[in-house]
Amino acid sequence: MKSSKHMSNAKAGVIPQHVAIIMDGNGRWAKARFLPRTAGHAQGVKTVRKVIESCVRSGVRYLTLFAFSSENWQRPQEEVGVLMDLFVQALEKEVKKLNEQGVRLRVIGERSRFSTKLIERIEQAERVTQHNDRLHLTIAASYGGRWDIVQAMHALLQARPDLAQSVQDLTEADIAQHLSMAWAPDPDLFIRTGGEQRVSNFLIWQQAYSELYFTDRFWPEFDENDFQAALAWYQNRERRFGKISEQLTKLEPKEPTAC
Ligand code: IPE
Ligand code: IPE
Ligand code: MG
Repeated sequence: MKSSKHMSNAKAGVIPQHVAIIMDGNGRWAKARFLPRTAGHAQGVKTVRKVIESCVRSGVRYLTLFAFSSENWQRPQEEVGVLMDLFVQALEKEVKKLNEQGVRLRVIGERSRFSTKLIERIEQAERVTQHNDRLHLTIAASYGGRWDIVQAMHALLQARPDLAQSVQDLTEADIAQHLSMAWAPDPDLFIRTGGEQRVSNFLIWQQAYSELYFTDRFWPEFDENDFQAALAWYQNRERRFGKISEQLTKLEPKEPTAC
């Protein structure tokens, strides 16, 4: 559905269709309270719950949360273990409620690195919620933007071996359709909590034209007011997609040519 791939400027004045969040600052939140880092991760799960509810209430249609990066596998084994356990527990506890709220859950990332138990929980959650359409919730776990582009190239070349002989035929759309979120519009609003102003390998292709919002608040303390502040900030952005202001019409905005 090409027309929904990018928010029109007129609609951008309202609610972003797709919000993508780097949930950062769990460890520092815990450290400031003389708690183990893992206590910050447990508290962070509560924020996830609240932000999902805010999105459902606000009319955001796609919410993508960065939970665990390809690079996070390098953290101490104990912390990785706790994060994986929290993931399993959250899936076991929350799926019923998500389903009742009309949330469709998907997980993107290199799934083969997870335990069999976690893979089963993910598959079950995706199956149970597959017919929901109110909010499309995607958890990026064992995910990296570079991994995504490489896996898209693998899939593309497998589907279209002919391209290797005619490389000039390769288009942005060919790659985009094999990315792990090919079914979703690109993120309109990117939020990173925790004070760092970097992208850390999250959705690097898809965020080409996202509005970037950074807040110092640590993820476990990020609340409804903070989320609404990000939405309000977004409403004041003028999304030009390379054009100049005068070219933007409120009624019939043109979208960029690429996928
Ligand atoms: C984000 O919080 C959660 C994950 C990366 C899994 P951090 O654990 O990165 O917290 P800080 O950045 O160290 O405070
Ligand atoms: C990014 O946070 C990944 C997630 C929030 C899941 P990190 O804490 O891993 O990022 P860096 O290392 O500070 O860039
Ligand atoms: Mg961090």
